[in-house]
Amino acid sequence: MVFALLLIMAAVVWQTLKTQEPNPKKQSEVMVENTSSSSVDGVKVITLEERDEKTNSVSNISYPVLGLDKIDARLETVSKNFLTDYENAVKGLADISVSYGADYIQKFEITPISDQLIIVMLEQYFSEGGGTGSNEVKSLMFKRDTQEELMPAQIFKEEKYLDLLSRLSREKLLADFNKSLADTDFSDSTPLAKEEFIQFSQKMINDGTEPTAKNFANLSFNEAGDLLIHFDKYQAAPGANGLVTVTLPYQEIAPYLSDFFKELFTPKKPLTNIEAVPNSPQKPAPSNEVAIKIPQGKIDCQKQACVALTFDDGPSVHTDQLLDILKEKGAPATFFVLGKSAKYQTQTIKRMAAEGHEIESHTFSHKDLRKLNKDEIAAELNETDQVLEKIIGRGTKFLRPPYGAVSDSVKANAGRPLILWTIDPLDWKKRETESVIKEMSAAKPGMIVLGHDIYATTVAAIPKVIDNLRAKGYQLVTVEELLAGQELKAGHIYRQR
Ligand code: NI
Repeated sequence: MVFALLLIMAAVVWQTLKTQEPNPKKQSEVMVENTSSSSVDGVKVITLEERDEKTNSVSNISYPVLGLDKIDARLETVSKNFLTDYENAVKGLADISVSYGADYIQKFEITPISDQLIIVMLEQYFSEGGGTGSNEVKSLMFKRDTQEELMPAQIFKEEKYLDLLSRLSREKLLADFNKSLADTDFSDSTPLAKEEFIQFSQKMINDGTEPTAKNFANLSFNEAGDLLIHFDKYQAAPGANGLVTVTLPYQEIAPYLSDFFKELFTPKKPLTNIEAVPNSPQKPAPSNEVAIKIPQGKIDCQKQACVALTFDDGPSVHTDQLLDILKEKGAPATFFVLGKSAKYQTQTIKRMAAEGHEIESHTFSHKDLRKLNKDEIAAELNETDQVLEKIIGRGTKFLRPPYGAVSDSVKANAGRPLILWTIDPLDWKKRETESVIKEMSAAKPGMIVLGHDIYATTVAAIPKVIDNLRAKGYQLVTVEELLAGQELKAGHIYRQR
């Protein structure tokens, strides 16, 4: 929750780096609008995806490119280390028979606090063997002019800053825990079980807040100057609490901040209307009663030979180049985007919409939906739609589940038609332009072709693919044009016309 709030504040002070659109509204509304849109222009996204079919393992690791070489290199290193962790996990699973292997997912948030302080948080999720996943945050703070990474010891003047953070965060976590106890229903528990739960939780808090550098490695600030201490899942609270963030008000920590650090930013007045920020309101899970029928447009794919090119996992650093190609060829396509990347590459999304492409959902963070419960699936879909609504004024009507992974639960909770594909060029596996050209060009009328705009090798294939398909007299269309005129049911799978 607190993490989410922080994320929402991410875009507020980006003006120093990027200009924002002028906003005629009054100040309080400007805050809400800017903070909730997180539009950080100029950021590009890199997504590293790997899959291992033998162990049913996947990674989808996204990180930003800010155009600041040293910072970008650091973010790349941390992200690639996470990819190495994934690869090692896959090796470890190779001899074990599991239905679900390793899942390593990373999303990021940027908090441009001031013109001198940039905070990037990488939120990592990993699960192995189909178990409940774990979450960790890596918070990286940079001084913009030198691009150096700031270490906690530079932030505080107290040499014993760890003792300070330990004491303050422990007090806060224990107080919160005691408050939550009052609201916990122990009517089903024996007195002994209750006592054990209390002792277990208090021990976790105490261990997780021991004054060690490791426990306090992930710090950040909001623009009001409040210090946020990020604890990994299981670090300072039972797993059910997920990621835990302790917020220490600026007034409380200001006396301990180093002069060097204080020069990097001036805290803004706290956002008085922070409660009003639409913080991912939980819509009810969508109903599967829905059926949609897209009206017939200019192109009638019942009579004409149509093929739909689709691209997953973007937007990415390569997507604008793909858009250039599609524009030059006058060919529409369908993009199944990730919310976590769309949120930052807003200009690319606007361009897709303006140039007549269809934008649909590939979930927010590319987790295997089969491993999520109903609420988690709803959150992956709603969050993506909210991001898109803010950028282009509309959400999505189709879902392409990550990895094409569908179960009864996914069907029951998708609330919209599931769009898979007829042709998979395995571009994610081979990463060869020639092979992508060959596979995609083999499409027949009515087919949906899968591709990924996170690979340069795939993008490079598209001019030839378009030429080859048109040479056979095929019309390139979006998915909705391809399926227009039919009744499409929520939770049903569509692979072709
Ligand atoms: Ni995907």
